[in-house]
Amino acid sequence: MSTTLAFDVYGTLIDTHGVGLKLQEIPGIKAKEFSQTWRDKQLEYSFRRGLMQKYENFAVCTSHALDYTCAYYRVPLTKEQKQELLESYRTLPAFEDVIIGLVDLKAAGFRLYAFSNGRADAVETLLVAAGIRDFFLGIVSVDDLKSFKPDPAVYEHFLRQSGASRDSAWLVSGNPFDIIGARSAGIQAAWVQRSEESIFDPWGVEPTVTVASLVELKEKITGIDPNKAG
Ligand code: LAC
Repeated sequence: MSTTLAFDVYGTLIDTHGVGLKLQEIPGIKAKEFSQTWRDKQLEYSFRRGLMQKYENFAVCTSHALDYTCAYYRVPLTKEQKQELLESYRTLPAFEDVIIGLVDLKAAGFRLYAFSNGRADAVETLLVAAGIRDFFLGIVSVDDLKSFKPDPAVYEHFLRQSGASRDSAWLVSGNPFDIIGARSAGIQAAWVQRSEESIFDPWGVEPTVTVASLVELKEKITGIDPNKAG
């Protein structure tokens, strides 16, 4: 069976800090810190909603996290400014290495999917805007289950939706919590560590492979996966 790759979206294919340019236009905001707090809170809200079984979709987590971040940094944004920021979150750029990496993987016969906390329609918009939608056979969203990563059920859902067997599937993610989630669910996982500053959680659960960009992925995976691609 061909190898199936489940690409995490926000933080792996798509750079969530791309919203920084919009933030820089707003006086009184330190774009880098603001964007980091916003992202951290967005994920925290998804984890908490998952645990509490009080699901609201990822866009709601993003919006509530923006409200929190404005309060935290005491930046009183208007409703329109918040709306504009949330709008820019729908069309963020892909990381630089993404297109070249995907071209290579597709040509090698890997089955590529997007697999995200985001709703399928939001992910569709994002991938189209970034010019990478056509690389993927499909989009699998946690929204179908009304839960979030790293609930083990969502990784099982990916296998079912993509028709991949456990041994032929890999998660590809820049988010360590996602890698640990997939490994704990018995799925191989490639951590995309784009910066030396990214730290992997010291839980004793390791990625199957680590790459510095998507360009290294084909070689690393084919080196280790007996199924190979194609
Ligand atoms: C996603 C989150 C983890 O795209 O960023 O699933």
